[in-house]
Amino acid sequence: MFEHVDAYPGDPILTLNENFQKDPRQDKINLSIGIYFDDDGRLPVMEAVREAETALLSDLGPKPYLPMSGFAPYRDAVQSLVFGEQCAARTEKRIATVQTLGGSGALKIGADFLKRYFPQAQVWVSDPTWENHRFIFERAGFTVNTYPYYDDATGGLKFDAMLAAIDALAPRSVVVLHACCHNPTGVDLDDAQWEQLIAVLHKRELLPFVDIAYQGFGSNLDDDAFAVRELARRGVPMLVANSFSKNFSLYGERCGALSVLCQDAGEADRVLGQLTSAVRSNYSNPPTHGAKIVTKVLTTPALNEKWRNELTAMCRRIADMRGAIHELLSRHIEGETLSRYIKQRGMFTYTGLSAEQVDRLREQYGVYILRSGRMCVAGLNERNVGAVAEAIAKVIAPAA
Ligand code: LMR
Repeated sequence: MFEHVDAYPGDPILTLNENFQKDPRQDKINLSIGIYFDDDGRLPVMEAVREAETALLSDLGPKPYLPMSGFAPYRDAVQSLVFGEQCAARTEKRIATVQTLGGSGALKIGADFLKRYFPQAQVWVSDPTWENHRFIFERAGFTVNTYPYYDDATGGLKFDAMLAAIDALAPRSVVVLHACCHNPTGVDLDDAQWEQLIAVLHKRELLPFVDIAYQGFGSNLDDDAFAVRELARRGVPMLVANSFSKNFSLYGERCGALSVLCQDAGEADRVLGQLTSAVRSNYSNPPTHGAKIVTKVLTTPALNEKWRNELTAMCRRIADMRGAIHELLSRHIEGETLSRYIKQRGMFTYTGLSAEQVDRLREQYGVYILRSGRMCVAGLNERNVGAVAEAIAKVIAPAA
């Protein structure tokens, strides 16, 4: 019956992470998956999250299904965090939000919704992008194309080429954008570039699908949401996928949401109905526990403040690690290319290492990064950064 089923070659991120877990070497270092580890190399439990969870566990009760659209106070808290407390679209009830299974779930629900109502549209993602963007949209039935983004020569953005390509798209094309901390390159648009891009999206009647999985890891929670808030302020219809995996360190709870910015409350109501229907036909309704934790933290002022401070400290630690690896590498390597370690933002740096160099890093030195050259700098710490820098220096040194 299943003879024709092909072997799964594995996922470039999740399978590599699973292989890391199986690697018996004691001194192995995981810089592959986008997970924040603390300075002791441990997955942190944020204090605000621990307090919220403890309070929830002292109030054990029945476990009914959540509504298909999710936990209402969670959906509301998502809107204020992502769109901002003062967002007019929010108070005018023009945003349709459903709770989803992480950011991937939001992308999938959004992709199903779009395939139904924009069946002719094609999807455009940055070159490169997070590998799963392509998988999700292709599986939903879309043709996925790329627009220019990363400039390997400078470690920066090909902004003019990006803008020109997007300016040439057919109306109602879906343009997938990373709000901040671009995955995998760590290269973001600045505010002025966002303004120019938003003008083009508006003029060409394109449909932005903004992925904001790293809010709080670029500059801060508000500045990282600039693109979303500016699109909303200018009334550009859009979809937004957000995730609490990273900024709450709640990976396994699968807490995310999909929001769609609409023209008026009636339209938002109908869109919400169709997002709900997409949830029903995928997994009926989302789980409760993580959503309650997130809601408690976001809606309890003392916990909210504690969480923000903890997130700020995480963001600072990443910046310190960027500085540390840059400093250590500059003892071995000369040239401008190193500056990308400090210029790029968020959890990732695109190292420019080749797949063959990455394989040597892993096989000979137990240092895991993605074969695309993406390094998760949030996995560096005071104890491992020296070994990582030395291993990189060795794999890029010309053979003697
Ligand atoms: C990553 O990019 O490493 C994370 O977002 C984890 C994932 O699901 O790929």
